[in-house]
Amino acid sequence: MPSPQLVQSVIRELFTSERSPRRTEPDLVMDDPANVAAYVEAGREHAVMAPVYLFHAANICEVIRPGDTVVDLACGPANQLAMVARLNPLTTFIGVDLSPPMLAQAQELITRQGLTNVTFRHGDITDLSMFADGSIDAVVSTMALHHLPDSDCLARTYAEVARILKSGGGIYMVDFGHLKAQRSIDYFGNQYADRQPALFTEDYINSLHAAFYPDQFRAAAAPLLQRAKLYATIALPFMVALKSPARRGDDPALRTTLAEMKKNLPQWHHADIADLIRHFGMNGMRCALLP
Ligand SMILES: C[S@@+](CC[C@H](N)C(=O)[O-])C[C@H]1O[C@@H](n2cnc3c(N)ncnc32)[C@H](O)[C@@H]1O
Repeated sequence: MPSPQLVQSVIRELFTSERSPRRTEPDLVMDDPANVAAYVEAGREHAVMAPVYLFHAANICEVIRPGDTVVDLACGPANQLAMVARLNPLTTFIGVDLSPPMLAQAQELITRQGLTNVTFRHGDITDLSMFADGSIDAVVSTMALHHLPDSDCLARTYAEVARILKSGGGIYMVDFGHLKAQRSIDYFGNQYADRQPALFTEDYINSLHAAFYPDQFRAAAAPLLQRAKLYATIALPFMVALKSPARRGDDPALRTTLAEMKKNLPQWHHADIADLIRHFGMNGMRCALLP
């Protein structure tokens, strides 16, 4: 059952005339050591981000195939990327980020986990000139686009994705969506304050303020809308995803592994993942690998 506060937020977002302004992230490129450490901590196995990472991992798995070369834009400490790379040992991944401390964390994690299918590049996602036209099988990005300074940078990023992707390539790019009312932002921002470091709550609230509105995503993503669909719930677009059609048929082994991972999440995460599945399911984005 959705909580009363969630229902209130839905009603508020549907009827408010407020359009809270976008406030750019104080730490655009995340290289402040304390912020990097808080982010890494929140991404640890079974920590607060676990259900979100699992949900995105399942969706990413659906748009990539064994043998693909996949680029993860603004990969950060690679918590998400490592999970996907473990699930897809025959796929090659390249993580791109502009923050050296994040890339150091990412490399440390990949080495510690013994993953041999991931490499990293230091670079700016608005200029992917390190990749040739039509050279990449799939592009993914999670919870990162709100770090861009403005919607021109967002448009440049999507244009670069359109340029480097092969025809028929996979896309899963997901980020927070901007809520109209300040009170809705306050509700979501503080939802998990009791379960996570204070610095991470602060970072999360900053992220929600920095998020782009669904109409900004739609305008910027124009070059990709023939290849992927933008999913944003009208009632409460707190997350917005651009996802291409699935590129892999049913994979019972992967489905079983993901179901096990979901079952093994701590009990308090079960409602969170159900919320995410319901939230995106309402606007038609379903994942056969994580029903
Ligand atoms: C909130 S983290 C997301 C990390 C990861 N994708 C995840 O899901 O955990 C955002 C990342 O975007 C990176 N970033 C911000 N602006 C960037 C840019 N223009 N090019 C590349 N990376 C950027 C930051 O350094 C940071 O690591």
